[in-house]
Amino acid sequence: MNISAIKEKFLQLFGTDCALYTSPGRINLIGEHTDYNGGFVFPGAVDKAIVAAIHPNGTERIRLWAIDMEEGCEFGLEEGDKPTKGWACYVFGVVREIAKRGGKVGGFDAVFGGDVPLGAGMSSSAALESTFAYALNDLFGLGIESFELALIGQATEHNYCGVNCGIMDQFASVHGKAGYLMRLDCRSLEYEYFPFDPTKEGYRLLLINSKVKHELVGSPYNDRRKSCERVAAALGRDLLRGVTMEELDGLKDSISDEDYRRARYVVGEEQRVLDVCAALEEGNLELVGQRMYQTHWGMSKDYEVSCPELDYLVEIAEHVGVSGARIMGGGFGGCTINLVREELYGEFIDKATSLFEERYGHKPEVIPVVISDGARKL
Ligand code: GLA
Repeated sequence: MNISAIKEKFLQLFGTDCALYTSPGRINLIGEHTDYNGGFVFPGAVDKAIVAAIHPNGTERIRLWAIDMEEGCEFGLEEGDKPTKGWACYVFGVVREIAKRGGKVGGFDAVFGGDVPLGAGMSSSAALESTFAYALNDLFGLGIESFELALIGQATEHNYCGVNCGIMDQFASVHGKAGYLMRLDCRSLEYEYFPFDPTKEGYRLLLINSKVKHELVGSPYNDRRKSCERVAAALGRDLLRGVTMEELDGLKDSISDEDYRRARYVVGEEQRVLDVCAALEEGNLELVGQRMYQTHWGMSKDYEVSCPELDYLVEIAEHVGVSGARIMGGGFGGCTINLVREELYGEFIDKATSLFEERYGHKPEVIPVVISDGARKL
């Protein structure tokens, strides 16, 4: 990413010094659509991030420039000042959520850009929220603790961007640590770092971006969440976390088939995360991979958040003998995450690229990932 271009643009537009902050996108090894159900997730931050140059300007106005879109936006600090540009709402939301928690943020100037692919299921929006939440906390000396910064990003999505997301993405973006995945219990909010270096065992992790753009705003994402809430309520629970398959089956005739299948996916996924953590501790990456495939087909057939392009990428992976592959993130497009044995790496990339292009007329993008640090000042 071109950090000096961001600094130069800042100087050109605002003519002052600035501080630089960054926060990354994320992968998630397993545990998808479990966060808002109070279950487990297993994400890690990656080496693709948003970077922002920021400086308080002593006024009550925020002036932003998005370098990748070559577009600016100016707005005030009050609730009625919500900008019309979608991307600016992420920053506005962070400012408002800080204010709601009693934090005093003044006006500032900022230029930002990044290399988290948009709409690829790698949480570019969480990276943006976390960059600003972290930066404003630091610059205005607010003393907000790190988990609350993640909650500020999540509340921004809920209240200013129309996505009732869980906490995984913002949590991973803020708390990421190079070389570690994190298992977060989304009910207790306790988390643990797991060392993760598949190369030691002869594997590599890579993402393949179908380039089908996913759009979670005002989307079926919120409907999935409602299905889960209906089933939990029918069981007299707040969350699906801890519900057993037997309990769910007992309810089968009194809920819709769609709600039943969605809940079945979530209940299965809770166990799969635990299986994967145990398998990692034993160095059994083949079992990790098997659970990834199960997650994929659950997300595709039961949760119905896949698409033909992603199913095809997973079928190619199965065909080549890749250890694990699945859709990653909210779904409806974006990337697959693949756990590939070293000796199959080249062959898989070749086959995935050529077969996919043959069928869909465009090449998917191959994205190797490195597990990296979370939000920080540069
Ligand atoms: C999106 C949301 C997350 C999570 C995932 C699915 O990325 O922002 O909170 O629900 O989808 O696991």
